[in-house]
Amino acid sequence: MKTIPDILKKKEWIVIGLMSGTSADGMDAALVRISGSGTGMKVRQLAFESIPYPDEVRQEILRLASGTEGGSHDLALFSFFLGHISLQACRAVCDKAGLSPDEVDLIGSHGQTLWHIPVPESYLGYQLTATLQLGEPSVISEAFHCPVVSDFRVRDMAAGGQGAPLVPYSEFLLYRDDKQCVGLQNIGGIGNITVIPPHASLSDVFAFDTGPGNMLIDRAVELRTYGAERMDTDGHLAALGNVSAPLLQFLTQDPYLLQAPPKTTGREKYGQAYMDQLLERAKGLSLEDLSATLTAYTARTIDIAVREHCKPRPDKLIIGGGGSRNPTLLSMLRDMLPVPVLTNEDIGFDSDAKEAVAFAILAAECIHGTDNSVPRVTGARHPVVMGKITQ
Ligand SMILES: Nc1ncnc2c1ncn2[C@@H]1O[C@H](COP(=O)(O)OP(=O)(O)O)[C@@H](O)[C@H]1O
Ligand SMILES: [Mg+2]
Repeated sequence: MKTIPDILKKKEWIVIGLMSGTSADGMDAALVRISGSGTGMKVRQLAFESIPYPDEVRQEILRLASGTEGGSHDLALFSFFLGHISLQACRAVCDKAGLSPDEVDLIGSHGQTLWHIPVPESYLGYQLTATLQLGEPSVISEAFHCPVVSDFRVRDMAAGGQGAPLVPYSEFLLYRDDKQCVGLQNIGGIGNITVIPPHASLSDVFAFDTGPGNMLIDRAVELRTYGAERMDTDGHLAALGNVSAPLLQFLTQDPYLLQAPPKTTGREKYGQAYMDQLLERAKGLSLEDLSATLTAYTARTIDIAVREHCKPRPDKLIIGGGGSRNPTLLSMLRDMLPVPVLTNEDIGFDSDAKEAVAFAILAAECIHGTDNSVPRVTGARHPVVMGKITQ
């Protein structure tokens, strides 16, 4: 078993970052080489692999994330199950990099979010925020004989933060620029933007969730095709459809869009109940028109975020996450936005790996004892070292 003192003696670490996002599409693993800490950190991506979830796993995640189904028995089993899936992803990414598992020094695992309460709720006389990410880290540590850092969000929430978004820390380290204001828009199940002003220090960085990303498009396609399709692959359906102006206008009235940051959202808001209401309004629309409208809506949420909430306004917006693979969405963004729109690939980064890389970086900082949260972004009272260590 590698101990923390063992790792701290080494100059360079091999670290795996694991992420399973709101889309419940699969477990992503990025293998990176990391040296240093804070602004002195150097990161090199060596490999990326994603283990897609079979339909029954995705359905189970959506069931457990519904908030009303699945009790503690199912949650306990699911957590260990996802530990094993995490392990598979770690092994696969080691294979891809041509490394043996004992060369791995550290693993950072986000787990799967099943519930997130960013704004305090009354509970037994307390006003509480809370969050639940599962994917038992002990299962991973047992097989890889190295420390695993997990459960990042709770520490920020205990300090009064919303526990999200967490990627701005790694984005600051990787993308900051002396001359330009850099905007990074991730489009996963949910969309989130990070803005890094020129010459920024960490406290200048701001970020927030822009609203639904691919989540509504995915769900509409899944429901209207009776499960035959899970996404609008390459934006084909949306490209064939026409945007319904009344539906787009109705969706755009969502007060979340104009709410001032810090703000975070998730499946709790844009899940089944929201979708039922949306589909009721979209009854007469073809699947193509519905896809076009929801794709335009996603683009519009990002446009509103950039115009209303980004001061300073980014000089360019770099798109990451699965949405960067949807050309129809990209072209709508390019039409609407007041700034140039690029993908991570355009600037030599990897759209798919970006979030998994973030958790490798956050884990490394946790081991160094370096604050790895961005209080300006989460609304926390002060910076903290996020992550729990399992060894
Ligand atoms: N080729 C593609 N065409 C259109 N959409 C895609 C494509 N590939 C991925 N996506 C979208 O990206 C989503 C996954 O993105 P991801 O960044 O993994 O999100 P999350 O972090 O929520 O898991 C899919 O559910 C799908 O909506
Ligand atoms: Mg994903």
